[in-house]
Amino acid sequence: MKLKRKDVLGLREMERGEIEMVLDSAARFKEILARPVKKVPTLRGRSMITLFYENSTRTRTSFELAAKIMSAEAINIAVAQSSSAKGESLKDTLLTLQALSADCVVIRHPNAGAPHLAARLVDIPIINAGDGFHEHPTQGLLDLLTIREHKSTFEGLNVTIIGDLLHSRVARSAIWGLLKMGANVTLCGPHTLLPPEFAATGARLETNCDAAVEGADVIMMLRLQNERMDGVYLPGVREYSALYGLNARRLAKAKPDAIVMHPGPINRGVEIADDVADDETSRGGRTVILQQVQNGVAVRMTLLYLLLGGSEE
Ligand code: NCD
Repeated sequence: MKLKRKDVLGLREMERGEIEMVLDSAARFKEILARPVKKVPTLRGRSMITLFYENSTRTRTSFELAAKIMSAEAINIAVAQSSSAKGESLKDTLLTLQALSADCVVIRHPNAGAPHLAARLVDIPIINAGDGFHEHPTQGLLDLLTIREHKSTFEGLNVTIIGDLLHSRVARSAIWGLLKMGANVTLCGPHTLLPPEFAATGARLETNCDAAVEGADVIMMLRLQNERMDGVYLPGVREYSALYGLNARRLAKAKPDAIVMHPGPINRGVEIADDVADDETSRGGRTVILQQVQNGVAVRMTLLYLLLGGSEE
């Protein structure tokens, strides 16, 4: 089994059938994570390099774990300490990694489109681990996998994404993926963080949070991305939290079996109240945040397998 493409750059360009294939394989790979010994020889002798031009803990760790579970070598380049700090361009860094016989490069970059440029520069597969505000396809896929584990079908499912949509690559990948799978998507946030261009995707835009939560099957909260805000977008965090934060009162407007998602890292008490954040489904609650983290490893194992063409052992 292989993907139709050399690289995984975004969900916008992926076909529904490909997404379904990734989700089906990930559901199978997830079984390995439940074993006491989490190691299979599938990608022995292969190497994955993570090249992160932005901070990350969970995404990078998740890729590293995924590679190691599949027996591939995982090498991280701490860009701040690498030759890019000496002025090396992305192009020269990539050509060097290819010459070092890396089998695949995972890139996170503050500029939208950097992984796409990378994909054209080298013959080895490139996986986008987040580019600017643009896309974060592995997050989108793990979100879809998590939803699929709770809801029987995407068709007609009401998914509400709330928060800082303007700065969110997580939201953009989720929107493309969900619409492709047949879900109804509602986007909610203050005007300043919800650009009208989003309506062109086919999603419904809503600035009233109670109305956006009404009847939702899935609520996806986004982090207020303070580090990406170079202007004044909000009157204050307390007001934001009152108008757009998810608390138990607001959640009660969603369907009784609605699930709550968040890509992490969460700002407790800002976009999500403590009691909602901690109400994990594994303990009978509604929140699936830690399940999303676990599914992230399975999705990344799958993509490495599909792109590197592992053995069937
Ligand atoms: C997100 C990111 O970096 O895009 N986090 C993640 O990958 N899990 C979202 C965020 O930073 O809020």
